[in-house]
Amino acid sequence: MKTRIFIIGSGVVGAATGEGFLKAGHEVTFIDVSQPRIAELAARGFDVRSEIDLSDEPESLLFLTLPTPNDGHRYDLSAFSAGTAAVGRALAGSPTRHTVVVRSTVPPGTTEGLVKSTLEEHSGMVAGEGFGLASNPEFLRAVSAAEDFAHPWMTVVASRDPQTVERLRDLLSPFGGELRTFADPAQAEFIKAAHNIYNATKISFWNEMWLVAQKLGVDLDPIAATVARSAEGSINPEYGIRGGAPYGGVCLPKDTQGFLGFADRIGVDMPLLSAVVETNDRLAAIVSHEVEEAAHAAADQLRGPAGAARVVVGSAQERESA
Ligand SMILES: NC(=O)c1ccc[n+]([C@@H]2O[C@H](COP(=O)([O-])OP(=O)(O)OC[C@H]3O[C@@H](n4cnc5c(N)ncnc54)[C@H](O)[C@@H]3O)[C@@H](O)[C@H]2O)c1
Repeated sequence: MKTRIFIIGSGVVGAATGEGFLKAGHEVTFIDVSQPRIAELAARGFDVRSEIDLSDEPESLLFLTLPTPNDGHRYDLSAFSAGTAAVGRALAGSPTRHTVVVRSTVPPGTTEGLVKSTLEEHSGMVAGEGFGLASNPEFLRAVSAAEDFAHPWMTVVASRDPQTVERLRDLLSPFGGELRTFADPAQAEFIKAAHNIYNATKISFWNEMWLVAQKLGVDLDPIAATVARSAEGSINPEYGIRGGAPYGGVCLPKDTQGFLGFADRIGVDMPLLSAVVETNDRLAAIVSHEVEEAAHAAADQLRGPAGAARVVVGSAQERESA
């Protein structure tokens, strides 16, 4: 008998995920709490139910594609928690080992925090023993959900259990694209959050530049299109991604500061550029403090003038490379 895939929360992501698996030849059951949504999916011929029943089910995969909206500056995980608890109760009624995969976008630490504890509480089982647990964030765009699911350019899988990672690799690699695996689910969750925030930051960057261009009566489109091909930050995936290394040298400090004053004089406020400068200044202070502390600690440990000198030389190089 084939492994059944349960889709827990059958909205935009759940429907695209389930349909993609169906087209790839898997058996899929959709779960949702919304009656209109259930009726809609049933009308499309899908196996859709309001409750999860694992009592007669051999080993299955349960994908959590539940909503995780924000409420101001916090994630509202109430629906996500309720759906996870229902999965835990279903696990309790099953004699076989199932695997729960978190596909919703959640704050880093959720899979091994909220999800693990909720499933353990409601199933009476221990994660990794009674059931498998993994993170596999979804990168699809709502406008092209089905197409993006079918042809991903990046798939991320994380689990403490190497067998669960391999299980998901077998399931997802036929869809193509690059597949990266991690042992720590928080890394996968962080990737998805950083992915979205990076995209948002880029959009805000060009919108801020658009305000300046408008003020100057200059067409931004060819400017942005050229910078997209000229800036190393755009064309080199390795550039600027090392944490703890603020920018330095002559040009970046000069042109960020200088442009802020230029924009101010033509009456354009640039909060993002101000934050870029402030973030760099703060990082430089943190890093130099850490380097000094490490140098002192190492010098104390070596207890000799020659050893201390070696450490200070090393820290200076660190700052130069930043
Ligand atoms: N929409 C996107 O483009 C997109 C892309 C990538 C990731 N995501 C993430 O995927 C997750 C799902 O997003 P979405 O856009 O599909 O949300 P959605 O609102 O379209 O769908 C969520 C579905 O879950 C159902 N649901 C709510 N509580 C439930 C419960 N207790 N049990 C079962 N079903 C329940 C709802 O009725 C709804 O049909 C979110 O974490 C989101 O951030 C969304």
